[in-house]
Amino acid sequence: MTLAEIISKSNNIVFFGGAGVSTESGIPDFRSEDGLYRQKYDVPPEVMLSADYFYAHTEDFYRFYREKMLPLWAKPNAAHLTLARWEKEGKLSAVVTQNIDGLHQAAGSGKVFELHGSIHRNYCLRCGASYDAAFIANGKGVPHCSCGGLIKPDVVLYGEPLDGGTVEGALDAISSCDCLIVAGTSLTVYPAAGLVDYFRGKYLVLINRDKTALDSRCSLVLHGKVGEILSQL
Ligand code: APR
Repeated sequence: MTLAEIISKSNNIVFFGGAGVSTESGIPDFRSEDGLYRQKYDVPPEVMLSADYFYAHTEDFYRFYREKMLPLWAKPNAAHLTLARWEKEGKLSAVVTQNIDGLHQAAGSGKVFELHGSIHRNYCLRCGASYDAAFIANGKGVPHCSCGGLIKPDVVLYGEPLDGGTVEGALDAISSCDCLIVAGTSLTVYPAAGLVDYFRGKYLVLINRDKTALDSRCSLVLHGKVGEILSQL
């Protein structure tokens, strides 16, 4: 079956995405040739994006974070826009994303489970006050709240747990949908990658530039650019 046929036969689609969904918006992914984790730093990016590093080297964390993790200039691409349209048409019930860039919401998606949080939410560790991404981007050094507390991005750093409510919502959506589209992810980071195992529906579709461990279990595998492919539907 073609993707178009599968989409036409499905009316409760869930989309599970990763960094490859935002590369066509100009944001590098992590593990491709030109990915963030292939770039040379004194300290590996996976270490700089850990909770231990955030608390022990907060100034260095924010220097890297401002330089590499705040693409506020990025715009939704055809993948984000198509998914938002499908939600409005009642075909798609939720987006589950590992991305923190907020581009699904910027495209108009309402139900988005952000497994790894969002750069658009930042909060004071002392009083809980909220700050937006611009506050972090425009600041210098370590951002502090007006109460003096340290501000932390609401992003799941290595070594931190995922938000229970978000995981529960994502699992509900994945376990009850009739078509799960997995796209733009190497499916190498757990527990996020493990959520796709809760799919019980009819069509499991993979749209990814490179091969993944899930390929052999899919009804349809498309190795290509997810924005380009969804723009044709
Ligand atoms: N279309 C389809 N697939 C693409 C595209 C594209 N335009 N661009 C890249 N890809 C694919 C790559 O082939 C790769 O398999 O997307 C995948 C991206 O994989 P990763 O870089 O590992 O990103 P992701 O799977 O989202 O990483 C998961 O790792 O560091 C953590 O928290 C971070 O959420 C991230 C998690």
